[in-house]
Amino acid sequence: MKISNRITAIVAGLCLALPVFAQQSGKDVYTKVCSTCHATGLAGSPRLGNGGDWAPRAAKGVASLYQSALNGTPKGMPAKGGHMTLPDAEVKAAVDYMLASVKDAVKAAKPEVEPKKEEPKKAEVKKEEPKKEEPRKAEAKPAPAPAPVAASASSSVVATEASAADINSFNRLLKPASKRNLPPPEDGIHDPSNDGTHALQPPLTAFSSLPKSMSGNRVNWVEAIGQKKINPRYDRNDPKAEPIVMDMNIVREVKGSMPDVVYPHKQHTEWLDCSNCHPAIFVPQKGANAISMAAILLGEKCGVCHGKVAFPVSECRNCHSKKKDIAKAPAPATAAK
Ligand code: HEC
Ligand code: HEC
Ligand code: HEC
Ligand code: HEC
Repeated sequence: MKISNRITAIVAGLCLALPVFAQQSGKDVYTKVCSTCHATGLAGSPRLGNGGDWAPRAAKGVASLYQSALNGTPKGMPAKGGHMTLPDAEVKAAVDYMLASVKDAVKAAKPEVEPKKEEPKKAEVKKEEPKKEEPRKAEAKPAPAPAPVAASASSSVVATEASAADINSFNRLLKPASKRNLPPPEDGIHDPSNDGTHALQPPLTAFSSLPKSMSGNRVNWVEAIGQKKINPRYDRNDPKAEPIVMDMNIVREVKGSMPDVVYPHKQHTEWLDCSNCHPAIFVPQKGANAISMAAILLGEKCGVCHGKVAFPVSECRNCHSKKKDIAKAPAPATAAK
């Protein structure tokens, strides 16, 4: 299942590259890819034309911004905007384009230390963070922190800020390596003053024999269940209860250049009850639900779970896994919500 998904994803990736052969201008790339987030400041991204957003970042130097754009940042900038087929030069051109949109503001700003501290819209996102009910059957995963809690500071490879509150408040599993899968007393979720906390098995030990993934808590849970490495109990009370697994894929066509989304019922109903999603999150009718990336990033729709108890939103290809029919494919993406 997983493997065939990956293959589809790779094929989709190749196909995506096709319209891209002639070098695109920074503006084109911005419009097709980056504007999804950078037009409105989605998830705390610096907005096009907003000097205040960009000045502290520009102070780090353009080389550093190129690096962030190419490799992503732990705070939500996906590598190449999630479009891994983009040539480096085009990604850099898009950075140049965004910087040009704030030239004056950036020049005015002193090229100094201490990047951003106050970032109003980030704070907004944080406050809004939905205290959604967790799906009750997703218990095999580490529970997400109920609220951002200050984690013990450790010199991390990445961000300057040390508190967990700053790290991807919308996407708790997208953490820098040094903050990932900490032992229970340090994870900011469990009470370190409780003796029971110290008796718990640390995730790194518990996960060591499970299939790996590149994101989230680094476990490929779908494969883990497929290979019978884990056998999650379906019902808290009844050890014999079995899930009703339903194999039905729903394809959601996506406007623009991203591959279409395949929503697989099978991989979900291995863990979840129909009532975890129907009808509270999704009306059970194909196409009846308005789903957008913006909603997902804000923790609604698929984002109720993805980025919290399931693989994070950075794994574009896991969801956008169906290549488009070239014939009727990409009119330049409007990426409108
Ligand atoms: C899915 C949303 C999303 C998309 C798409 C996206 N970005 Fe970002 N970007 C972000 C977020 C969130 C941040 C802020 C992250 C941070 O502070 O580290 C960011 C920050 C940046 C920064 C500043 C990084 C820094 O070190 O301060 C640059 C440069 C950037 N993006 C370039 C791009 C380019 C170029 C594209 C298109 C090829 C793009 N982004 C597409 C979300 C996105
Ligand atoms: C993780 C969330 C989730 C779970 C769990 C889930 N579904 Fe769905 N279901 C969806 C989504 C998303 C759609 C597509 C909605 C859309 O396209 O707007 C859907 C669509 C449907 C449809 C409509 C199909 C059509 O062609 O119109 C039916 C019927 C359905 N689900 C039944 C079930 C049943 C029965 C279960 C339990 C065995 C279940 N679902 C579990 C998310 C879920
Ligand atoms: C958890 C699954 C999931 C992941 C992961 C995901 N998407 Fe999406 N995406 C969706 C769904 C569902 C839609 C809505 C499709 C539709 O219109 O019905 C969507 C729509 C989109 C759209 C169309 C415009 C919009 O906002 O609705 C773009 C562009 C997009 N995604 C880009 C991305 C990028 C870039 C990434 C990786 C950073 C990504 N997606 C990761 C599920 C996902
Ligand atoms: C109620 C929680 C929940 C919701 C809502 C949800 N998912 Fe998932 N999803 C999961 C869990 C749990 C897994 C399995 C664990 C993992 O892969 O991290 C999963 C796995 C997946 C997989 C991986 C399949 C594989 O073979 O690896 C895809 C694709 C996916 N989800 C897409 C979506 C899309 C698209 C939506 C929205 C239409 C969505 N999910 C909504 C919980 C959810």
